[in-house]
Amino acid sequence: MGNLEQQKTPKPGKLGLAVLISGRGSNLQSIIDACRIDNFPAQINLVLSNTPDAYGLVRAKENDISTRIVSHKDFETKADFETEILSILDEFNIDLVCLAGFMRILSPTLITPWEGRIINIHPSLLPKYKGLHTHQRAIEAGDTESGCTIHYVTPGVDEGEIILQKSVPIIDGDTADSLAARVLTQEHIAYPEAIRIIAQKHHSLS
Ligand code: GAR
Repeated sequence: MGNLEQQKTPKPGKLGLAVLISGRGSNLQSIIDACRIDNFPAQINLVLSNTPDAYGLVRAKENDISTRIVSHKDFETKADFETEILSILDEFNIDLVCLAGFMRILSPTLITPWEGRIINIHPSLLPKYKGLHTHQRAIEAGDTESGCTIHYVTPGVDEGEIILQKSVPIIDGDTADSLAARVLTQEHIAYPEAIRIIAQKHHSLS
């Protein structure tokens, strides 16, 4: 059995993760790094990207994690795109789907079968600034803090139950880029922490 095959078999007590990405994959990297820690309660069984050239795919391959590309451009309808993702998720012993910079809005086709087992990271303190351009909007509103939110995914965009939030100050002279960088350092702490919280719940239920 090669490395890739072994990753489809969950280790006892570990949540099997699918991480869905569209690009850089720095949040994916933070989850990969956390999974290296001995007592971390999860392992990544699959990284799936909707863009073929996402750098996150390179990160996954460097760590012997199975990858799949499902480009939305190859499907006539969103339902077909999501049905293909569903069938791939079924192959990999997945307990929890982690959206990490996955830039497609998902419909109930995918969300309903995974509701309660699919989470997202969003770069604002929800319910503020759902959608895009969160950092610019926070600066323009004159906010003094921003941050990130990990939440369950529901059919309402960026609306599901909040698992945890991390905040950062907005500093005089901040640009969207400087604020994004400050928030991103907290994202990288938040995602592994959220996975630990969910794993603890999962174990207390089983
Ligand atoms: C992250 O900042 C994440 O919060 C954001 O995309 C970035 C992905 O970075 N997600 C969204 O905006 C979702 N609406 P990464 O690819 O380096 O993890």
